[in-house]
Amino acid sequence: MSIQFDVVVIGGGPGGYIAAIRAAQLGFKVACIDEWKNAKGGAAPGGTCTNVGCIPSKALLQSSEHFEHAGHSFADHGIEVQGLKLDLVQMLKRKETIIKQNNDGILYLFKKNKVNFFHGRGAFVAAVDGGYEISVTGVNSENITGKHIIVATGSNARALPGTPFDEELILSNTGALDINAVPKKLGVIGAGVIGLEMGSVWRRLGSEVTVLEALPAFLGAVDDQIAKEALKLFTKQGLAINLGVKIGKITSGKKNVTVEYTDAKGAEQKAEFDKLIISIGRTPNTIGLNAEAIGLQLDERGFVAVDGDCKTNLANVWAVGDVVRGPMLAHKAEEEGVAVAERIAGQHGHVNFNTVPWVIYTSPEIAWVGRTEQQLKADGVAYKAGTFPFMANGRARALGDTSGMVKFLADAVTDEILGVHIIGPMASELISEAVVAMEFKASAEDIARICHAHPSLSEATKEAALAVDKRALNF
Ligand code: FAD
Ligand code: NAI
Repeated sequence: MSIQFDVVVIGGGPGGYIAAIRAAQLGFKVACIDEWKNAKGGAAPGGTCTNVGCIPSKALLQSSEHFEHAGHSFADHGIEVQGLKLDLVQMLKRKETIIKQNNDGILYLFKKNKVNFFHGRGAFVAAVDGGYEISVTGVNSENITGKHIIVATGSNARALPGTPFDEELILSNTGALDINAVPKKLGVIGAGVIGLEMGSVWRRLGSEVTVLEALPAFLGAVDDQIAKEALKLFTKQGLAINLGVKIGKITSGKKNVTVEYTDAKGAEQKAEFDKLIISIGRTPNTIGLNAEAIGLQLDERGFVAVDGDCKTNLANVWAVGDVVRGPMLAHKAEEEGVAVAERIAGQHGHVNFNTVPWVIYTSPEIAWVGRTEQQLKADGVAYKAGTFPFMANGRARALGDTSGMVKFLADAVTDEILGVHIIGPMASELISEAVVAMEFKASAEDIARICHAHPSLSEATKEAALAVDKRALNF
């Protein structure tokens, strides 16, 4: 007889492990199955985010930023650095330590919350009396049954057709976070979030980075004014960003890889790289789930089909995170995980997709919430805009990090905040104030009248809110 659980979560990434913990907090008997292994074959829950995504990329972004500062901007502060040297082995080791701390932290949280962890691959066997039977194959091998199932199996990097990842020369995010010698020439296909973050890491460490992007516009989802500023700043930093290219043949040699492409002017080009990162988006992961066994419906793009509440076509089967529609973001996956656990408990879990923030952790960082100016125009919404440059912010000057701005978009009639867009230092932290404000349907005036600490970067947020009514005080 297989062990019976109230809730079985398949996948231990941000969507799955958070759903499991919340369900356990609500008093359910919970199992979470995750197959990720560390180098020693041990359990490594946390999914893409912890193992080859959010966490290791931010570790390397931080380390590489320190390296760049030590080499370039410390002198400005009157700090002389002699004999600056990169110890890439130590940098990668630090990243691995941080990953392990996160893996272990999740295992500890499972224990604390009495979540039963199964290390292996979960697959549907059949619908049975009392729920669904799931087989676990791996370190733990047994069959378990869940009354409710939450599918949180995440996503995988999308390969270019005919060019599989070998993680030696042609790298997905996994290989891009584990290059063991700084490539002299690094190619990046796709100027999206991964391309820009990973391109920044390796450029700071000394690579000559060429980014090849299919679309003619740079960062199409970002507010136009912010995207324009970002392109200017990244180009100045040395990222060679080529827009509107059409990728042709990609040929791997022994030590390098050649990319043939047509540039925006229609000219045929050929470039040779020591490593090539392909970051052209991600695809939902339902490999090995055996969704067919129970008739779980996928949509035409391979995502598990769900409604607004993360319900699938089957009673008591739910799906959250990257494997369902919506932005592929860890915090979106987590919010869905919590909401589903609460719905299972008969509560009214809720995710407000209009206030999910986005952050690109380049330098400067880019962060936004709500609608862009081009979206408001397209939607025919009458709006007011206010911007404030970090150049006019005292804390940014003291930090030596004055590039970028905060931009507010508010309804022309009601003054309700419709979008906030930031490019600049600590944009990832500053955006939270805008998210809170939008959740509470605040007006720009509300932010403009709140006392912000001085000197702080957050004063730029207040000033941009003031600028909506053309009353910025420091610009
Ligand atoms: P995942 O994290 O992919 O977890 C799914 C888990 O399920 C995995 O552990 C997988 O092994 C397991 N699994 C799959 N199938 C089975 C099965 N059949 N049985 C058992 N286990 C299974 N998002 C942000 O919000 N901020 C960031 O800064 C950020 N940075 C990123 C950087 C990179 C390089 C990448 C690639 C992504 C980044 N993301 C970031 C996106 C973020 O990682 C994802 O949105 C998030 O991990 C999705 O969570 P999830 O739980 O849906 O899936
Ligand atoms: P992306 O969707 O951000 O960017 C992909 C880019 O590749 C797009 O600009 C697209 O136009 C381009 N592209 C697609 N096909 C192409 C082709 N054939 N040739 C050239 N260019 C092509 O995807 P990315 O960067 O792979 O990241 C995947 C997802 O992971 C992100 O969308 C995001 O959800 C998540 N992520 C989030 C991060 C964060 O929150 N800071 C960091 C990294 C990833």
